[in-house]
Amino acid sequence: MSGDLRLRAVVKGVGSALPKRCVTNKELESTVDTSDEWIVQRTGIKQRYIAADDETTSTLGIAAARVALERAGLTPDDIDLVVCATSTPDYTFPSTATMIQAGLGITRGVAFDLQAVCAGFVFAVSTAEKFLLSGSHKRALVIGAETFSRILDWEDRTTCVLFGDGAGAIVLEAQEQPDQGQGDNLPRGILASCLRSDGKHRAKLYVDGGPSTTKTVGFLRMEGKEVFKFAVGQVTDVMAETFAACGITAQDLDWFVPHQANRRIIDASAQKFGIPPEKVVTTVQDHGNTSAASIPLALAVACDDGRIKPGDLVMIEAIGGGFTWGAAIIRW
Ligand code: ACO
Repeated sequence: MSGDLRLRAVVKGVGSALPKRCVTNKELESTVDTSDEWIVQRTGIKQRYIAADDETTSTLGIAAARVALERAGLTPDDIDLVVCATSTPDYTFPSTATMIQAGLGITRGVAFDLQAVCAGFVFAVSTAEKFLLSGSHKRALVIGAETFSRILDWEDRTTCVLFGDGAGAIVLEAQEQPDQGQGDNLPRGILASCLRSDGKHRAKLYVDGGPSTTKTVGFLRMEGKEVFKFAVGQVTDVMAETFAACGITAQDLDWFVPHQANRRIIDASAQKFGIPPEKVVTTVQDHGNTSAASIPLALAVACDDGRIKPGDLVMIEAIGGGFTWGAAIIRW
């Protein structure tokens, strides 16, 4: 590293993949005691994608990674770190990340899964950044991939209408960037991130099975109102810390890309910081809650439609089971 330059983890490309089958609220009405009106009013969700038997977390992850690599102008050989955030791995082991690594034909470097439920992508981005800044690795594929449809109790209308399947991926590259800078001269890359967890909230959102307890996969269970309260009330601490760490305010942001769980949670978080609706990327209406995949899916939509451009200041933020929660600010 020379002079006033330092390594930053810079975004090179974004990609996503969805299952073939789209399920609208209307279609759900025929199998679940629910209504399009109830789902839209309480969550903003209009449809979600559900994986077929031959579509798994790793196949969706591989498809998303291929698009991200293409957008980055890179090949699988350029990647030496694969981090996959998921709570719905293909198998208990090996990790989905190693399956994605093999599917892409990558035979060097390291690949591992990271589990922080809906906050998984923010945790994975922050973890990959630390590898890249240490100098140990050069280019990372960071993937959020899920098939939550496999862990839903389709008899439980309070949860099954909320989730969907999908995957998103970004390529991060270690690059020397100016150490400091203000306004338009801010360096590119991840400027700051803040992660938190507090395991005492386990019972509010969990899966009631696992290899070491029930020897089954289990189903998702949730106290919806408690999760809602925590999500709206608590997540602002990591956002405030992340703004402070890079010396900017919410008004400096070009785009706010929160976890896509529920329209009301998204709106309330943005309002707390005075972020206007036109700067909020919202895809929950189209994808439902895809857990760790929701942020990279939303990033891919906003990059593909030309909203997010190089130089833009973007905040990502999420909360998930545990609870786990975190935020990061990236100069695109
Ligand atoms: N269709 C129709 N009626 C329903 C449905 C459904 N799918 N689900 C519940 N209801 C009924 C309930 O039975 C209840 O009926 P009752 O009054 O006769 O008892 C009524 O609707 C109200 O139920 P509530 O649970 O009070 O509804 P609420 O307004 O709290 O909305 C919701 C529920 C949408 C789950 C809300 O609490 C929420 O968004 N919570 C956040 C949870 C979340 O987003 N989790 C995602 C995972 S975690 C994460 O990603 C951060």
